[in-house]
Amino acid sequence: MTRLEPPVLELEAVRAAYGPYRALFGVSFSVDRGAAVALLGPNGAGKSTVARVASGLVRVSSGSVRVDGRDVTGEPAWRIARAGLAHVPEGRGVFDSLSVEENLVLSFRRRAGRGEVSTSLERAYERFPALGQRRHDRAGALSGGQQRLLSLAKVLVAPPKVLIADELSLGLAPSVIDDVYAGLADARRSGTALVVVEQQIDRALALASSAVVLDRGAVVYFGPAQGARAVAEEVVARRHRVEEDAATQVGPGARPPAGREGRT
Ligand SMILES: Nc1ncnc2c1ncn2[C@@H]1O[C@H](COP(=O)(O)OP(=O)(O)OP(=O)(O)O)[C@@H](O)[C@H]1O
Ligand SMILES: [Mg+2]
Repeated sequence: MTRLEPPVLELEAVRAAYGPYRALFGVSFSVDRGAAVALLGPNGAGKSTVARVASGLVRVSSGSVRVDGRDVTGEPAWRIARAGLAHVPEGRGVFDSLSVEENLVLSFRRRAGRGEVSTSLERAYERFPALGQRRHDRAGALSGGQQRLLSLAKVLVAPPKVLIADELSLGLAPSVIDDVYAGLADARRSGTALVVVEQQIDRALALASSAVVLDRGAVVYFGPAQGARAVAEEVVARRHRVEEDAATQVGPGARPPAGREGRT
């Protein structure tokens, strides 16, 4: 039955770097069609880099990325988007000085082509009525939560085969996080697989069927969501201990202990 269907996203032995600074050390995992995967790990573990590599914003130094069975390694971001991958990056991801509708139109033109824009707008306002009410307002005048909804709406067109959402809940009030997660669940019902990057382990695991835990640029867990919590908490606690030791032993101004240049 579904055995022959390729995963919607597959990373294989991906290494990536920012200049001389190596950020990923052979990351492999896959996301099945329609699945929801939590991508967890402490600050600096490489979660956003994984998201950027998958969407083509950061080039891999080696390894491969496949979207829906197609090798997209090294392809530009817009082609990967057309192959069916949507990425809501960290941060706000909206153009402040443009209206809500202008933000959506710009993104939909790029992702879906001109012909689809008005249907896509209708669908976006149906899914997020708060955006419909403020369609002519400047995006910069929206609340933080509404801006996150807008950045989500911008990529939810056509619907994507896989959506990578990077820390959507960061800095939002719990009730607003509920709205954002309702948007994710809605996307999943229309068949979009989700990769949810989160610091809030519980939020992500409530939605996810499986999980990837990263630590210092490597996968330390890839399996069922239930098994991930203990690993993720342990990794975060270990990071905190390392940081505290570094702060107490060598005093302020010292280099962090995890300098990774040269690590292989
Ligand atoms: N543009 C960049 N230039 C140089 N180094 C970077 C850049 N972006 C990230 N890094 C480094 O790469 C490593 C992985 O960062 P990344 O942003 O992927 O982590 P993260 O897990 O998303 O962390 P956070 O939870 O803080 O968002 C970190 O050590 C970070 O300092
Ligand atoms: Mg990040």
